[in-house]
Amino acid sequence: MAFCRVLGMFAVTAARIDADDPLSGLETGERPEPSVPDGWTTVTVKAAALNHHDVWTLRGVGISPDRLPMVLGCDAAGIAEDGNEVVVHAVIADPDAGGGDETLDPRRSLLSERHPGTFAERVSVPRRNLVPKPSALSFEEAACLPTAYLTAYKMLFEKSGVQPGSTVLVQGAGGGVGTAAILIGRAAGFRMWATSRSEAKRARALELGADQVFESGARLPERVDVVLETVGQATWSHSVRSLKPGGRIVISGATSGDAPPAELTRVFFTQLTVTGSTMGSRDELGRLARFCEQTGVRPVIDRVLPMAQARDGFAAMVDGDLFGKIVFTL
Ligand SMILES: NC(=O)c1ccc[n+]([C@@H]2O[C@H](COP(=O)([O-])OP(=O)(O)OC[C@H]3O[C@@H](n4cnc5c(N)ncnc54)[C@H](OP(=O)(O)O)[C@@H]3O)[C@@H](O)[C@H]2O)c1
Repeated sequence: MAFCRVLGMFAVTAARIDADDPLSGLETGERPEPSVPDGWTTVTVKAAALNHHDVWTLRGVGISPDRLPMVLGCDAAGIAEDGNEVVVHAVIADPDAGGGDETLDPRRSLLSERHPGTFAERVSVPRRNLVPKPSALSFEEAACLPTAYLTAYKMLFEKSGVQPGSTVLVQGAGGGVGTAAILIGRAAGFRMWATSRSEAKRARALELGADQVFESGARLPERVDVVLETVGQATWSHSVRSLKPGGRIVISGATSGDAPPAELTRVFFTQLTVTGSTMGSRDELGRLARFCEQTGVRPVIDRVLPMAQARDGFAAMVDGDLFGKIVFTL
C-alpha cells in the first residue's frame, strides 16, 4: 500500500515548461517526501549527476505539463535504508514486459518522467533498482554511472557489434556520454577517435585517451567501423560519410535536433546500419560498476556543486560549457 510522509525535503524541480528558456521553469526549495509503494524503498541521496535529459524535461520533451511540478534527476548514489552504499538504476520498468530487457518495456520510464527524480534529499525507487556502489568510486563518481556511462557502455558493447582494435568515432567529445564513451572504449581496447566543436575540449579528449581528435565535420584520415552519435542534426551527415561500407551508426541522442537529411542513398549504397540505443539494464549497470573497478576507469567530472546551486550547473549545460559530468551533492 502506498503512503505519503508529511515531512518535506529539499529538491530541484521542473515547475514549468519553456522550450526556449528552460531555466525559467527550474525551481529549488521544499517538496513533499516521495511516496513509497509496495516493493519500493527510499535512498538518501549523497550525490546526483546532471544529464541533458533534465534540460529536455524543462523544455517539455518526454513530459507533459500535467505531471508538473516534477523533481528532476535520473542519477544518484546514496545510502539505502539498510545502510548500504548504493547506485540508483534510473530505468523504472518491468523486465518481463520487455521480453527480459527492461529497456524494451513499452511502459518504461526514467526517474523524473513519471516518478520524482534524484535531485532531492531522498528518492523512492523499486528495490530491484539498487545496485551496490563500487567501493573504489566516490559517491560523486558513482552518481555518473546510471545514465551517461550506462548508455555509452551499452552502445559500445551491446549495440556496436565491433571488436577491440576497431576504430570508433565519438561525435561530441565533451558531453557526458561522449567522455564516457572515450574512456570506456579506450579501456576496452577500441581505437577511439572523437570530434568536438571546441579546441580546448579536443585537447582534453586526447588527455582522456582518444587516439585522434577532429573539428566537428572535419574529413577523417580514413573511414571508421562505428560512429557513436548523440549530437544528431549537426553531425549526422558527417557520421554517415565517415563510415566504412557496412559500418554502423549507434545513436542514443539528438542534442542539436532530430530531423537532419536522412542521406538514404548513402545509407543503402554503402550498406550502413543505423541502430538506436537507450540506457541499459540493471544487470548491465552492475557490470559497468565492476568494469570501472577492474579497469580503473573513473567518470570525468567537470564540477561538483552543492545541490542548492543546481541552477549554475543547468546553465553550464545549456551553454555547452562543460567537459564531462556536473554533479550535485547534499
Ligand atoms: N537514449 C538514452 O538513453 C540517452 C542517454 C544519455 C543521453 N542521451 C542523449 O544524448 C545527448 C547527450 O547527452 P549528455 O547528457 O551527454 O549531454 P551533454 O553532457 O550536455 O553533452 C552535449 C553534447 O552535445 C554536443 N553538441 C551539442 N550541440 C552541438 C552542436 N550544435 N554541434 C556539435 N555538437 C554539439 C557536445 O559536444 P562538444 O561540446 O564536444 O562539441 C556534447 O557532446 C542528449 O541529447 C541526451 O538526451 C540519451
